[in-house]
Amino acid sequence: MTSTTEPTTAGLGAAGAGILSQDIEEIASLFSVSRTDAPTSDDERAAMLESPKFGTVFSDHMARVSWRRDEGWVHRRVEPYGPLRLDPATAVLHYGQEIFEGMKAYRHADGAVWTFRPEENAARLARSAHRLALPALPVDDFIAACAVLVRTDIDWVPSSPDSSLYLRPFMFASEPFLGVRPSNEVEFLVIASPSGAYFAGGVKPVSIWVDAEYHRTGPGGTGAAKCGGNYAASLLPQEEAAAKGFDQVCFLDGASNTYLEELGGMNVFLVMDDGSVHTPELTGSILEGVTRSSILRLAADHGRDVVERRIPLSDLVEGLGSGRVTEVFACGTAAVVTPVGRMAGETFDATVGDGQPGELTTTIRQELTDIQYGRAADRHGWMRRLA
Ligand code: COI
Repeated sequence: MTSTTEPTTAGLGAAGAGILSQDIEEIASLFSVSRTDAPTSDDERAAMLESPKFGTVFSDHMARVSWRRDEGWVHRRVEPYGPLRLDPATAVLHYGQEIFEGMKAYRHADGAVWTFRPEENAARLARSAHRLALPALPVDDFIAACAVLVRTDIDWVPSSPDSSLYLRPFMFASEPFLGVRPSNEVEFLVIASPSGAYFAGGVKPVSIWVDAEYHRTGPGGTGAAKCGGNYAASLLPQEEAAAKGFDQVCFLDGASNTYLEELGGMNVFLVMDDGSVHTPELTGSILEGVTRSSILRLAADHGRDVVERRIPLSDLVEGLGSGRVTEVFACGTAAVVTPVGRMAGETFDATVGDGQPGELTTTIRQELTDIQYGRAADRHGWMRRLA
């Protein structure tokens, strides 16, 4: 099946491409901002922004909106970043009713700060919320919360190459209650973390263990939702793959243990020797990656055949052996586009191409990041200016 992902124009204001709509700005103005009385000093922050590692330091504030079953979404605010006070009976601690998103704020050369397709993350959060019996947060509220936090912590958006302010919106069941039913109280927060490359080695080819023992999800499960439980399920396989010397794990489908699904936090693509670009089709157990859909579009722009299909592991193994598969890469907001240099499983161990980043992998990564960092025209209308 060829991808026909259309560019979205939702969230665009009348003022011009990428400007947030008046509706979003009105919601943003409803947020109260309570600033920390112990802000990080300029020197300290500059040191933190110098070569930020993924997900290790956080900006001074967080955005927060509460939900009560009888009131809806209330109490929009920005408050100092800090520990949450939770009753030990809080539902999320027992039944894992939690979902999240991953986004980035990019500093452009003129100092402005932009983000990438936030409507898609907002819509996916709403789909995840539905699956986890959490309330849907309207798209405009989601974008407004991100915008207000970025504006408050604008100095935390790094400007060094390939760095960004990673945004982590998340929602959890906050009612103290041990019965197994959807929570009547929910918190939505956005935190921000200045970040560099997701993999410690930078943009170097990673190695992947294809796991035939564990699955992250199954038919009718939560695989398409971005919920913490899916990632918890990936940790033991990931740890075991790491013990074998691999960077990441790739999961097969839970129903037949046959078809490639995704990595623990990234979608996967194959480039074939006829130039076509293949990725596992969305079967309901694979995360609908925003980067994934953008890459399908960019590859199609290059005149490549883009194919979303069920990919049996045997196809991959045969293709790596025969040279029919010339490139493999992983993608996600955090990982961007990460080349894969080696893939192995119980019955095979193969170098991908010559083990170095492939030509299309490198081109797509460059093109995507050029759009995100404002170095290339935003021809699909994907970028939104936050500040
Ligand atoms: C992202 O790519 O933003 C993700 O949410 C994956 C995460 C597990 C790092």
